Formats: sequence, C-alpha cells, structure tokens
Amino acid sequence: MWSEVLVLATLTVGLSMGGFPYITPSTGNVWPKPQMTETQETYMVIRPEKFKFSVVGHDCDILQEAINRYKRTMFSGPTSPTLNPVWRKDEKFNGFLDEVSLNLMAECEEYPHQYMDEQYQIKIDSSDAPGNGTIISQSIWGILRGLESFSQLLLPAGSDFNVNSTQVMDFPRFAHRGFMLDTSRHYLPIKKIKDHLELMAMNKFNIFHWHVVDDQSFPYVSERFPQLSELGSFTPIHQYSAQNISDIVEFARLRGIRVLPEFDTPGHTRSWGPGQPELLTSCYKDGKPDGTYGPIDPTLDGNYDFLTSLFEEITERFHDHYVHLGGDEVSFSCWESNPNITAYMEAHNITGDYAKLEEIYISKLLDIIANLPNKNGYLVWQEVFDNGVKIAADTIVHVWKSEHIPIGWKEELEKVTEAGYRTVLSSCWYLNYISYGDDWYKYYECDPQEFNGTDTQKQLILGGEACMWGEYVDGTNLIPRTWPRAAVVAEKLWSSSAHTNDTNAAAPRLEEHRCRLLDRGYQVQPFGPSYCLSDVDV
Ligand SMILES: *[C@@H]1O[C@H](CO)[C@@H](O)[C@H](O)[C@H]1NC(C)=O
Ligand SMILES: *[C@@H]1O[C@H](CO)[C@@H](O)[C@H](O)[C@H]1NC(C)=O
Ligand SMILES: *[C@@H]1O[C@H](CO)[C@@H](O)[C@H](O)[C@H]1NC(C)=O
Ligand SMILES: *[C@@H]1O[C@H](CO)[C@@H](O)[C@H](O)[C@H]1NC(C)=O
Ligand SMILES: *[C@@H]1O[C@H](CO)[C@@H](O)[C@H](O)[C@H]1NC(C)=O
Ligand SMILES: *[C@@H]1O[C@H](CO)[C@@H](O)[C@H](O)[C@H]1NC(C)=O
Ligand SMILES: *[C@@H]1O[C@H](CO)[C@@H](O)[C@H](O)[C@H]1NC(C)=O
Repeated sequence: MWSEVLVLATLTVGLSMGGFPYITPSTGNVWPKPQMTETQETYMVIRPEKFKFSVVGHDCDILQEAINRYKRTMFSGPTSPTLNPVWRKDEKFNGFLDEVSLNLMAECEEYPHQYMDEQYQIKIDSSDAPGNGTIISQSIWGILRGLESFSQLLLPAGSDFNVNSTQVMDFPRFAHRGFMLDTSRHYLPIKKIKDHLELMAMNKFNIFHWHVVDDQSFPYVSERFPQLSELGSFTPIHQYSAQNISDIVEFARLRGIRVLPEFDTPGHTRSWGPGQPELLTSCYKDGKPDGTYGPIDPTLDGNYDFLTSLFEEITERFHDHYVHLGGDEVSFSCWESNPNITAYMEAHNITGDYAKLEEIYISKLLDIIANLPNKNGYLVWQEVFDNGVKIAADTIVHVWKSEHIPIGWKEELEKVTEAGYRTVLSSCWYLNYISYGDDWYKYYECDPQEFNGTDTQKQLILGGEACMWGEYVDGTNLIPRTWPRAAVVAEKLWSSSAHTNDTNAAAPRLEEHRCRLLDRGYQVQPFGPSYCLSDVDV
C-alpha cells in the first residue's frame, strides 16, 4: 500500500505523457535562475481558496498592488486532473501552506532607480521556521522579484498547488537589464506595451527603453510643441498623450521597471521637421535647397532653446533620472551640402571636420540635459564615442554594432571602458533579426564581460538591453516575436555568469518557462517541437 502512495505522490501533473518533444521541461524551476536555490524533497500544499500573503514589515501601494496581481498570476493556467486524495499522506508531505509573510525591512521607495536594491530571500518550510513561508527584502524592489520567483515555484496538483521546501537567496548580476521597443516605425498599442511590461517583470527586466520617435513618425504628444505630433505622427490616433505616458510609467513603476525615454538626435529626426520649422538642415543640390532635410541644424541658437524646452518636458513626464539621447548614424552629406553650415564651420575654424560639428551639437545637448531641474543622466549610442565627440565622464555609452564595422563589440567594449565610460551592451541581442531554427543559443552564449579588459574595465559594464526595432513589428506580432526569446537575455543579465552559458542545462528550464508564460495567457512562440498543457486553447 505504501509504495502505491509514494508513486502517486510523485505525480504532479497527472496526465499520461507521450510523443517526442525536443526537450522535457523541468518542473518548479525559477527563470532567470536565482544565485542560490536549495530544494528539499519535502513539500507543502497551497490551497488557492485558503491562501493569503501577510504583510509583516513595511507596506505601500506597490506592495498591495503586487499582492493582488500575484494572487491572480500564481493560480492562473491549467489545473491538473484531480489526484487520488491519499497522496498527501506520504512522508514528504509537510502540511498546508496557507500564508506567506512578506517582510519588507525598509520603507518603500516610490520610483525604481539606477541604484535600486533587488536582493531578496525566500524561505519555504526552512529548518529554522518549519511549516512557514517568508519573502524577505531590504527593498520593495526585492520583494517584487521575490514574489515572481515564489510564483514560479508552484506546481499544479489537482486544484491545489505543491511547493517544495525551498530556500532562495538571490540578487541580480547587472543593475541595467533593459528592453528597447520602437514606436516610430510602427505604433504599438498601449495594451501591447503593458503586456510587454508584464512579461518583462516576469523575467526580472528593470528598464523599458522606449525609442519613442524616429524618422518615420512622432507619436509623442508634446504640450509645449503640439505641432510635432500633429504634423509628425502617422494619424491622430497613432499618438501617445500625456495621460497615456503617465499610465505606462505608472504601470512600469508598480512592477519595478524604469521607463527610459529615447529622443534620438541630431539624426533620425525626419518626423520632427514638419512641426518645428528651421529645426532640420535643408539639403542643397546645385546651389539650391532640394526639398529634402538632414539632421538637426546645429548652427542655430533657436534650436537649442527648443531642445531645452522639449527635454525639460520629457524628463518631467517620464520621471526617470536618465534619458537616452541617441546620436547614432548621423549622416554628414546634408551638412556638407548646406552653405550656411559651411559658413558656420569656417567661422568656427572647423572647416571640413563634421565630427567636430557633431561634437559641438552633442556637447551643447549634454549641457542642456545636465542642467535640467531633475539633474538628468544620459545614454548615447556608440557612434558618439566612436566619432571622438568629447562627452561628459558620466555618460553611459550604449554599444549596439555587431559585426566588424569598424570593429567587433568586444573590441568596442574594450575601448569604451578603457576610456573610463560606463557601458551597456545590445550588439548580440537584436531580437528583431529573426531566422529559422534555434536562434536563442547565440543570445545565451554572449557575455557582456567577455572581452579583454581589467577588472576595473569590467566593472564599468552596467548590463545590457535586448532590442526589438519596429520596421516589421506592430501590435500583431510584438509579443510572439519578442517572447520567450527575450527571456534568454533576461537570464544572462540576472543570473551569475558561471551558471549561465550552458544551453543544454538551460533548455529544460527555458521550456518550462515558455509554458509558464503561455499558461499565464501570453501569446509566446515555441522554441522547438513541443507542447504545453495550455496550447490546445490559445
Ligand atoms: C520536490 O518534492 C517532490 C515530492 O517529494 C520530489 O519528488 C522532488 O524531487 C522535489 N524536487 C526537488 C528539486 O528536490
Ligand atoms: C511561523 O508563522 C507563524 C504564523 O504566522 C508565526 O506565529 C511564527 O512565529 C512563525 N515561526 C517562525 C519561526 O518564524
Ligand atoms: C490615451 O489617452 C487619451 C487621452 O489623452 C485617452 O482618451 C485614451 O483612452 C488613452 N488610451 C488608452 C489605451 O488608455
Ligand atoms: C542661410 O542663412 C541666410 C542668412 O542668414 C538665411 O537668410 C537663410 O534662410 C539661411 N538658409 C538656411 C537654409 O538656413
Ligand atoms: C584654427 O585651427 C587650426 C588647426 O586646428 C589651429 O592651428 C589654429 O590656431 C586655429 N585658429 C584659430 C583662430 O583658432
Ligand atoms: C584578447 O587578447 C588576446 C591576446 O592578446 C587576443 O589573441 C584576442 O584576439 C583578444 N580578443 C579580443 C576579443 O580582442
Ligand atoms: C562557459 O563558461 C565557462 C566558465 O566560465 C568557460 O570556460 C566556457 O568557455 C564558457 N562557454 C561558452 C560557450 O561561452
């Protein structure tokens, strides 16, 4: 009789499995992998109708919202068929876990920030508190990360859930774990941006880098310069109002995600032109303007007044202390054609040196940003550094080029950090480049600290960002194309380096995680021939 009971006890899903999926998923593993996990063979049972979180430390709106959210998330997804009730009589059963206490040991911070503490600890039925469950952290951000991990430890068992006796001690490897979306090449519906933020939180990303505007459209509604979106957005319905932006910033804040807005200049600004006459450089052909426009005209004082006012509004609205200033792919040919620019350069004794002209622009812009009321920090794309523009010492350089143009990303990181700049890597994580087959291996094997450099240089790597550029992406395919591939990058940025370059070891956990995200109701694409219990009904 005992042996039969024990066999039943090991059934967690209870469906008979057949077929030949490419990989057998793990069960009850947390993604991204925590720094330290200790799991026992004993387990407790959570009954959804009896379960509650109790707040035993500090409390705040972020915590209350998270409790409501996780009570839904934890118990979503398919339940497994009811098991024989005798299974809870086995010797590994350590009782019911009806309460998990949330012990926040310091006051809540209101907004996530660059130096936020995300460390946390989970104890379920530990030897020093048998039968109890606790999530402990010094900061609200750690409690959020801990709740996510806890929710991933649950295994469906009948209409209840099992959780093994487990201890987790966890913190991120990198502070900057970002995801970039582009809302200029296509408009992304607010609902999809929120789904994306929710998925980011489930993968412990902490920065939403929002590439709001670009050549193709200007969906940002400015209060000070309403003509920018009136004349620069695709249509009046393809816009983000002040209300829409604060809605997104709030949604992100509650999940411990910073919103880092990018307003890329002086190039990539075609859509800015109609709403702000004189901003862009007129390109000349055969001695007259040819009707086309180039980068922002750096020679006109009025343009800096405009930028001061616009960025003041932007940095208030997005709230983060950082702003991404772009600076990539500035084409010099239009500047070269324009006689006024030529005259300006002669007057400033920089004839022919267009990189110098770019430097004049960028350094004025950096000054503007640094002197805004919020004392903002900034990121720039790597070209600003590559072109030899003198940049402030606290600039963060965003490395994005992948191949050997002119050098590979490892050499680029070496140079940027040798010059003493902090940096963020995206080169290997352009998820918009898609291909047939197992493309996630290369994301997993790329390591931002794997370059020739001293320890001091490696400390300057703040982390990385996955990117999804929008030329071929809108609301229809954003989620399935981005997820679960982005989860691979999430683990690289969160988990310790030693654990995270073995794709064979990761695959079963990744497969479990993909099913978890699908079970939670997101349209996340598969990695290979496989199944999830919820895929019959997507
Ligand atoms: C969790 O508990 C179950 C039931 O006792 C056991 O079969 C399983 O091996 C445990 N998991 C781990 C990772 O120890
Ligand atoms: C276990 O939880 C109970 C109920 O919340 C509490 O009274 C008790 O102090 C806890 N024990 C330990 C060792 O934390
Ligand atoms: C965006 O903001 C406008 C008002 O500024 C509002 O009417 C609209 O409902 C908002 N959209 C969403 C999806 O919240
Ligand atoms: C060039 O400068 C002249 C004289 O200041 C001005 O009239 C003209 O509008 C400028 N052209 C452009 C394209 O900025
Ligand atoms: C102009 O630039 C040249 C070379 O950069 C330099 O030698 C010269 O002193 C400069 N002249 C003035 C007036 O700044
Ligand atoms: C690192 O340095 C070694 C030895 O100088 C060299 O062989 C290798 O190519 C370098 N790697 C990179 C990525 O620069
Ligand atoms: C994985 O990490 C180990 C230890 O740091 C290293 O020796 C190995 O080369 C790495 N493998 C890959 C594929 O990067």
